[in-house]
Amino acid sequence: MNYKHEFAEVLFGQLHEVADRSKLESMIEKPKFDKLGDLSFPCFELAKIYKKSPQQIAVDLAQNLQLSNTFQHVEAISGFVNVFLNKRVVSTNVIKEVLTKKEHYGEITIGNKKVITIDFSSPNIAKPFSMGHLRSTVIGNALALISEKCGYEVVRINHLGDWGTQFGKLIVAYKLWGTKEKVQDNPIKELLKLYVQFHDEAEQNEELNDQARHWFKNLENGNEEALKLWNWFREESLKEFNKIYQLLGIKFDSTNGEAFYNDKMNKVVQLLKEKNLLQESEGAQIVEIGDDLPPCLITKKDGTTLYATRDLAAALYRQETYKFEKSFYVVGNEQSLHFKQLFTVLEKLGYEWHNGLKHVPFGMMLKDGKKMSTRKGKVVLLEEVLTEAINLAKENIEEKNPTLDAKEDVARQVGTGAVIFHDLKNHRLNDIEFSLEDMLRFEGETGPYVQYTHARASSILRKGGYEENLDAVTLTDGEAWSIITKLMVFPDVIKRAFEQYDPSQIAKFLLDLSKAFNKYYGTVRILDDLKQKQARLTLVYCVQVVLNEGLRLLGIHAPEEM
Ligand code: ARG
Repeated sequence: MNYKHEFAEVLFGQLHEVADRSKLESMIEKPKFDKLGDLSFPCFELAKIYKKSPQQIAVDLAQNLQLSNTFQHVEAISGFVNVFLNKRVVSTNVIKEVLTKKEHYGEITIGNKKVITIDFSSPNIAKPFSMGHLRSTVIGNALALISEKCGYEVVRINHLGDWGTQFGKLIVAYKLWGTKEKVQDNPIKELLKLYVQFHDEAEQNEELNDQARHWFKNLENGNEEALKLWNWFREESLKEFNKIYQLLGIKFDSTNGEAFYNDKMNKVVQLLKEKNLLQESEGAQIVEIGDDLPPCLITKKDGTTLYATRDLAAALYRQETYKFEKSFYVVGNEQSLHFKQLFTVLEKLGYEWHNGLKHVPFGMMLKDGKKMSTRKGKVVLLEEVLTEAINLAKENIEEKNPTLDAKEDVARQVGTGAVIFHDLKNHRLNDIEFSLEDMLRFEGETGPYVQYTHARASSILRKGGYEENLDAVTLTDGEAWSIITKLMVFPDVIKRAFEQYDPSQIAKFLLDLSKAFNKYYGTVRILDDLKQKQARLTLVYCVQVVLNEGLRLLGIHAPEEM
């Protein structure tokens, strides 16, 4: 039941010579005002082809369309063909579909159980979990859930930054200035402190950098002391990261980080050699990838490998292990060049599957208009941000609903939901201004607002004694209709969110549905009219189901009370 699709079919009957079905479907829009109809087809592009005015074309089309009983009537207005859906038929269909499918409403089968690997979060060991990593985490998690909703099998991969020259620096710094107790008490803060201290001192003392290179070389050669320290730093950092994942309710299928690929690197170098792609340049090994892009560095002068080498090995391993059809990398847009190089090298290696690789970039998180940085002590520790959001949510609940059960749980859901929604309501490429106050408002375009709307719907259902009844509904009044038309497009919204790697489509949809519902709640006395009560409750139930499912797709819980 997709009316846009049906309308496109009907148009196709008249226009098959000039356009295909999906092109027609993509042109159909929602009119600006409800009174203009429910679906609208613009005729401006056709004007060039037919050499007639758009309005004349609209009139001709409107006259000849063979409409089924889902369409009430059709009008040609200012170059648009506008159709009005039959409210009774459509309402009944939409409500029936939500009632029978419940949380499965909106599922689509385009994935056919094929595999998508999603590389997301991927913080760096011994460094704080940055705002960028938070963005990657929530966007990646939402894309994973949306992909599953579209019928894909998803493998969630946390490609930890657990290898690289910085570990040489860290080992040197720890051996010079660190203590076991301090690291154990507060691993990330302490390790960062050591790292910053290393950089400060190395500015005066060049020799420190030599020592760091030496210790990284030791690490790559499997030196026992180096490995032991590295492993310990890794474990301690992971413990901290896991606290954040736990708060957010996020799990991974694999936490194989960069280090995992150490023994898989020779194979990459070998393959590149076989295909004659490897060249020497000042002692380093590189792959030239054309005039527009700088070459991809594969090994350094001293034989050590790089971030890109490990990503090449990782892509090969993932294809071999998971046989993915698509593979997403949710990483900030400052790494666009890296991924272009990576994908081009894989294309040059002749792998057909390079077509399924996709970098999903995103913008920055800003504070007072400036990038939030983790360098030089100016750290915003993410766990503190989340804890603060949760505390504020708790205060809010204490004030509004002091007798609520399970306050702790609800505060966690609302606090984290606020942070997640604040991110996902923006298109991922936009930079976002970080503001705890904005996130946590119960009014306006926030997570708590949608959650609150969901809780309100749940409470009406409890109070009204809702009973499921598949035949209850024939609501056609204007306020109900504006809810129905939102519920109706949910599957379409999910599909678009998937195709455009864009969870904000779902966030915006949830805001629209919440607004329509709150308007309904404000104007219609849902429980007062006994004759209409069950029909209205059924509508409320559908709203509740869809809000719940939409929030779930963003990685947000929807409490029944708050
Ligand atoms: N650890 C990297 C960083 O923080 C991100 C890794 C992204 N994933 C990848 N396969 N390169 O910048």
